[in-house]
Amino acid sequence: MTGAERYHPGFGNHVSTEAVPGALPIGRNSPQHVPFGLYAEQLSGSAFTAPRQENRRSWLYRMRPAAHHPPFAPYARPGLLRSSPFDELPPTPNRLRWDPLPLPEQPTDFVDGLTSIAGNAGIGVHLYAANRSMARRAFTNADGELLIVPQQGALHIVTELGRIDVEPLQIALIPRGVRFRIDLPEGSARGYICENEGAPFRLPDLGPIGSNGLANPRDFETPAAWFEDIDEPTELIQKFEGALWATTLDHSPFDVVAWHGNLAPCRYDLRRFNTINTVSFDHPDPSIFTVLTSPSEVPGTANCDFVIFPPRWMVAEGTFRPPWFHRNVMSEYMGLIVGSYDAKAGGFLPGGGSLHNRMAGHGPDRASYAAAIADELKPHRLEATMAFMFESRSVLRPTRFAMETELMQLDYDDIWSGFTKAELPNDAR
Ligand SMILES: [Fe+2]
Repeated sequence: MTGAERYHPGFGNHVSTEAVPGALPIGRNSPQHVPFGLYAEQLSGSAFTAPRQENRRSWLYRMRPAAHHPPFAPYARPGLLRSSPFDELPPTPNRLRWDPLPLPEQPTDFVDGLTSIAGNAGIGVHLYAANRSMARRAFTNADGELLIVPQQGALHIVTELGRIDVEPLQIALIPRGVRFRIDLPEGSARGYICENEGAPFRLPDLGPIGSNGLANPRDFETPAAWFEDIDEPTELIQKFEGALWATTLDHSPFDVVAWHGNLAPCRYDLRRFNTINTVSFDHPDPSIFTVLTSPSEVPGTANCDFVIFPPRWMVAEGTFRPPWFHRNVMSEYMGLIVGSYDAKAGGFLPGGGSLHNRMAGHGPDRASYAAAIADELKPHRLEATMAFMFESRSVLRPTRFAMETELMQLDYDDIWSGFTKAELPNDAR
């Protein structure tokens, strides 16, 4: 790999990368003398004894050990970030929908702009809205990995293991414990986050689909090693057991000159998703659109599935084509990155969100239903859309902010009122 290449392709690969030629030790992870006097440090994302297929760790070769910092103290600035057990309010069985979170009016960076919507013991659903880069500040999350879904504005994510650029329609995945900073090339940004405290996200098994399809491993991109040599105070904020803590380093934490291993941040472009669907009738369950899954100990029952609804051809014959009415043992938080969603004629806006918890009846609104049953079923391409879902096996408990904000649409239930009663023939009664 030359220094000009920013990314290594593949998901969960064992990568070796160095920002300075000769910085990466060969043949030993922790040699007595690391090149240039760098410090060797292992970052473990799984227990040492996790099975090989589950084992995630990287060796970092850095200018100072990560241990070089004063004690953390509680972070002084109160915000809207919440964490498990999400017990501010009792959970509600009601269907909920919110308008988009506005950009902040005061200078606010990624950390201070985190706003929690809901969560359970396995995941947290957060929004971010920021209008300033994280100058001399870094963040790390000991509680879980972060799946970042930009909706508006690009992000330049500087991590210990390299730099990742993402824009709306791309996602970034930052492992638990990796220190990072987010700069805003366009001055502001907004999006969604799934904080995953369960098993790390991985690609789903494909079963009868075969060896190709959905998100292909090579389309995930892991950054090449990159570092900055800056001896200036840097605030390091850590999320630990639900609370934020802060300390100040006397240097930049982004001083990893070389690394190797399979625990690393990555990005993925949702436009590369190989969408699979019916070519006869009906449509498969939405699990056919799974990009990443965090499995639980129950087979096929995810702590979280990250599912997208991308542009695609609709060709099903004699079929109600939009997502059908359903009730689900799994709980569903949905967001919209761009365009509109084929089961909603209005009200579900880019940047907004909806929550359909366990067994909540939901599905198309009246207008979408009426249009779908009147539709002349020709092959039709859904364009300019990208909705997504964080689907979890446990009920998502809304935060106080989510339940009390003016962004909540108090009339959401109305979209399912007024469906006319099916008329049976008189002699059927
Ligand atoms: Fe659903």
